[in-house]
Amino acid sequence: QGVLSYDPGYTNTACCTSRITYLDGERGILRYRGYPIEQLAGKSSFLEVAYTLYYGELPTEQDLRLYETNVAAHRTPHNDLVKIISNGFRSDAHPMGVLASTMMAMGTLYPEANPALRGNHVYESHKVREKQVFRILGTMPLLVANIYRSQNGLAPMVGFDTGDMNFTESFLCALNWVEGKQYKPNKKLARAMDVLFVLHADHELNCSTATMRQLTSSGVDVYTSVAASIGALYGPLHGGATEAVLKMLERIKSVDNIPAFLDAVKNREEKLMGFGHRVYRNYDPRAKIIKKIAYEVFEEVGQVDPLIDLATELERAALTDEYFAKRKLYPNVDFYSGLIYKAIGFPTEFFPCLFAIGRTAGWLAHWNEFLEDPEKKIARPMQLYKGHGKRDYIEVFSRW
Ligand code: CMC
Repeated sequence: QGVLSYDPGYTNTACCTSRITYLDGERGILRYRGYPIEQLAGKSSFLEVAYTLYYGELPTEQDLRLYETNVAAHRTPHNDLVKIISNGFRSDAHPMGVLASTMMAMGTLYPEANPALRGNHVYESHKVREKQVFRILGTMPLLVANIYRSQNGLAPMVGFDTGDMNFTESFLCALNWVEGKQYKPNKKLARAMDVLFVLHADHELNCSTATMRQLTSSGVDVYTSVAASIGALYGPLHGGATEAVLKMLERIKSVDNIPAFLDAVKNREEKLMGFGHRVYRNYDPRAKIIKKIAYEVFEEVGQVDPLIDLATELERAALTDEYFAKRKLYPNVDFYSGLIYKAIGFPTEFFPCLFAIGRTAGWLAHWNEFLEDPEKKIARPMQLYKGHGKRDYIEVFSRW
């Protein structure tokens, strides 16, 4: 077998080369295709970022309009998906479970994009790949909106004319649509959501993106890979942390309880959710931007969530505590984002679905990069075997 390096969690093993996202965890730097996250959050839009992540360059105005039109063309989900969401799950099913299952089902509806049915060559065509990208990016918000509508007793959204609404405005429209009533999205809240999608769009080889590449390496269809990535994102150590942070803050309840909570963290009875990161040993640059947006959103909705004071004090207490300082633990992207989602009106269980909408752009960019990679190989990590040596089978009646 030769000498294997043992690296649980892949803390020191590069499994691919990539040109998509640059991350310097020591200095807290994040860039998509070379563009600083702060500039993209300030000036760009989610679909422009999705384009740039996928194609590698900022689009011309004409290319961007065409891209937006192609994505918008998929704002009507397949009728079977609407039926699955409405009838296939318990009313209290976790939205991420529903989303992953529905994305998996989506793959069965488009056999022309399935290498298992049409052969590996299907993805050699750029046009075929782009079609899947438009369809997945365009449908994803409608799936989330329909899960929300189904769980809140609202009629399903089977397609609608959103006029000149952009990607995020039409998502808010799909959530809030009432038959016969005109819906006008709140521009400031829609912009805040759009920036959150930008900030979540990619983060190089995080767990769900590594999952995307891992599944793609087996040659499976892109819908199955995205469904698996949604599954990875669901976990509380990854995108599920958005939901877990809010539940943690609600449990802590008051600033007075922070010292006892931090003691429990240090005794390993609790985890400080929304803190720590595999790569960042400094403040997550996305968390800084998100904290600022939270106050802007509170101003817009006219109500400051008292949990923001609790979160700010929790952050301060942790950052001045030796346990966190020694381990270089800082707030990550999930620490403040839930407070924004809550202020906009999303139920807590939906937070990871919102993360998934943004991260889909990154998953698809990595999917494309993997397919283009001349050095690609099926992902197949090695193990160090620690089990028994050879031993003989004993008939069941002779065992004791
Ligand atoms: N609370 C308390 N202790 C922590 C935390 C935390 N949130 N994060 C790390 N530590 C401790 C950990 O116990 C370990 O201590 P020791 O060396 O004494 O055993 C040390 O810090 C190093 O941590 P690690 O678990 O080896 O670090 P990792 O790189 O394997 O894990 C992480 C990274 C994100 C899974 C972890 O920090 C964590 O569980 N954080 C809380 C969940 C969370 O917020 N996840 C969102 C991550 S960012 C966005 C995303 O990916 O979705």
